[in-house]
Amino acid sequence: MHIPVMPAEALSLLAVRSEGIYLDATAGLGGHTALIAQQLSSGMVIANDCDPASIEMARQNTEEWKDRIRFHHGPFSQLAEAVAELANRKLDGILADLGVSRYQLTDPHRGFSFMSDGPLDMRMDQTTGMTAADLVNYTDEKTLADLIFQLGEERRARKVARAIVRARPIRSTLHLADVVLRAVPRTGRLHPATKTFMALRMKVNDEASELDHLLQIGPALLQSGGRMVVISFMSIDDRKVKERFRELGRDGRAAILTKHPLRPSEEETGRNPASRSAKLRALELN
Ligand SMILES: C[S@@+](CC[C@H](N)C(=O)[O-])C[C@H]1O[C@@H](n2cnc3c(N)ncnc32)[C@H](O)[C@@H]1O
Repeated sequence: MHIPVMPAEALSLLAVRSEGIYLDATAGLGGHTALIAQQLSSGMVIANDCDPASIEMARQNTEEWKDRIRFHHGPFSQLAEAVAELANRKLDGILADLGVSRYQLTDPHRGFSFMSDGPLDMRMDQTTGMTAADLVNYTDEKTLADLIFQLGEERRARKVARAIVRARPIRSTLHLADVVLRAVPRTGRLHPATKTFMALRMKVNDEASELDHLLQIGPALLQSGGRMVVISFMSIDDRKVKERFRELGRDGRAAILTKHPLRPSEEETGRNPASRSAKLRALELN
């Protein structure tokens, strides 16, 4: 099972009340969902994820608390409808643990990683939308370069895009990693394809606008005193969370509970290296 990141911090800032209604916007394999469910009596947690395969695993992993959990399959941009359907009032808390899970990252069939060969897919929701293969094989060179530069913050994006266009069709993760490696030599610790993979993943899953949706709709779904806790792993995401929370704080709509983002303890990063880059921010709606 996925090891939930910063479980104690997330739970303490959510301040779960046993009769409350909560939304785990990113249920993944159900790690945080289980922790919330354990604290409920008459309350309930809506466990949402856009990845049906993850929801199925979360369902199995949280079987013990199934009477307190309602699962929902959908993206952040459909959360308002999901909450309206499953809860008859505003929420006491929302948790979002952004990005992909270890399961998604390490399953070669999902195509997120170049650690092993697999189809170049990268969709969190495999029931819809274009794959990373569609993107690299059918996007014009300039558009591809721009997105690798902007989303991946890859300075050598033009070279990468040119190499990709020349090597088409690209079908597998290792093929793409190899094309990038040949185009831009390794300089530091990072594999040269890391930023390109990141950019493609963000584009395929529309991650930037999905996070914008979540940050707009989340506070509107909370009742007064309700809390929103967001864990992010990329500085580009944390910046957005910080700015949106600040805006809500300035307008007097919310109180910021984390002046600075909380980071995982050394003990946690030792036990779970995947938690290393986590930043947690929380607010309470006024
Ligand atoms: C880091 S994992 C969450 C792990 C989970 N907290 C646990 O303890 O098992 C992030 C999850 O969010 C989901 N996700 C990412 N972006 C999403 C979006 N826009 N809408 C819905 N789910 C999303 C992914 O499919 C993934 O399962």
